[in-house]
Amino acid sequence: MSMSAPRLLWRDLCIFDGLAVLPEPMTLLVEAGRVAGLWPTRAFPEALAQGAVEAGRGGVMTPGLVDCHSHLVYAGNRAGEFEQRLEGVSYADIARAGGGILSTVRATRAASEDELLAQSLPRLQALLADGVTTLEIKSGYGLTTADELKMLRVARRLGELLPVRVTTTLLAAHALPPEFAGDSDGYIALVCDEIIPAAAAAGLADAVDVFCENIAFSPVQCELVFQAAQRHGLALKAHAEQLSNQGASALVARYHGLSADHIEFLDEAGVQAMAAAGTVATLLPGAFHCLRETQLPPIALLRRYGVPMAVASDANPGTSPICFPTLCLNLACTLFRLTPREALAGMTAQAARALGRPDLGRIELGATADLCLWDVQQPAELAYAIQPGRLRQRVFAGVIRFSKEETQDAC
Ligand code: NIG
Ligand code: FE
Repeated sequence: MSMSAPRLLWRDLCIFDGLAVLPEPMTLLVEAGRVAGLWPTRAFPEALAQGAVEAGRGGVMTPGLVDCHSHLVYAGNRAGEFEQRLEGVSYADIARAGGGILSTVRATRAASEDELLAQSLPRLQALLADGVTTLEIKSGYGLTTADELKMLRVARRLGELLPVRVTTTLLAAHALPPEFAGDSDGYIALVCDEIIPAAAAAGLADAVDVFCENIAFSPVQCELVFQAAQRHGLALKAHAEQLSNQGASALVARYHGLSADHIEFLDEAGVQAMAAAGTVATLLPGAFHCLRETQLPPIALLRRYGVPMAVASDANPGTSPICFPTLCLNLACTLFRLTPREALAGMTAQAARALGRPDLGRIELGATADLCLWDVQQPAELAYAIQPGRLRQRVFAGVIRFSKEETQDAC
């Protein structure tokens, strides 16, 4: 298939543009990888159809989904811990006993780079089949310089194998590795003095993340990591206020970080700090659901202070073994009471913002043409119904890379 991008024309679309549903049927022209024109169908200057490929008529078009928080690269699985949790053992107890994140660290360290790639690929394929065109992937199951870099290389390779934009985040400060037991300051020094510089020098990390929690790292330690990341010009984000209020969101905001993620225990002062700094609140309803959490993120406060809300899968083997982004839209609505419009914006325009990529996640003149055409009547259905297989076309960088009709013809 030729990769050069033809002029593509869709007519009579119901468009969700990343922030809102446009009020009337639209005609969309894509050229050279970008949105080249967008008109109400009744006002489309028909001469512009000359030489364009008629790519479709009708249906719901959204920006390609942007999953701004995932731990997609890992080895093994934690089904055994799932059973333990069903019997009443808590996530934190499992972590304190050396399981949880550390059990995935053991499996990930033992896997070769190619094995890690092979285990992660089907998860990425599942995300793509449900509309993802941009994905953030974190490290954090290596916890040595070599193993963290191995994870980041796998993440980058995934982005080269399939038509998806992958952004990488170094999450070396995810858990204390066993060889540093009793010396978390020593491990943080390794993160700051060796792992971050190595990842930055290799060009393998776009951002740095920390897990700020009483079962992980303190705000003081996270601040040291942020300072090291800033010295290397890397963007910042945090797993913040997931299990308790540590003030990590205000810390991210103070360092002009991209996002504070999870935030179930976020308080009003933290919300104000995020609003002032323009830090995005990334909601992870999959983890909330799987851990059967009861403390809701402060959605009303986030709305009141105008903090942008992103929604992501948090795909990981422990708290959110979910590779089904539109399910996460549903969970954001049913569990957190987001409106379908907020949830969809959360996985398009707001998620792009959480990655520092405002050129993505929008359908507007000049935007990158990563697009999804869905077999639904209205955009809200994407959050309302829990149903795979609704993607009719997937456009990546202005090229149709998946089309349901072609797949069906092929079988
Ligand atoms: O986003 N909270 C920390 N990190 C992940 C879970 C990682 C794991 O349990 O493997 C999260 O919930
Ligand atoms: Fe996470």
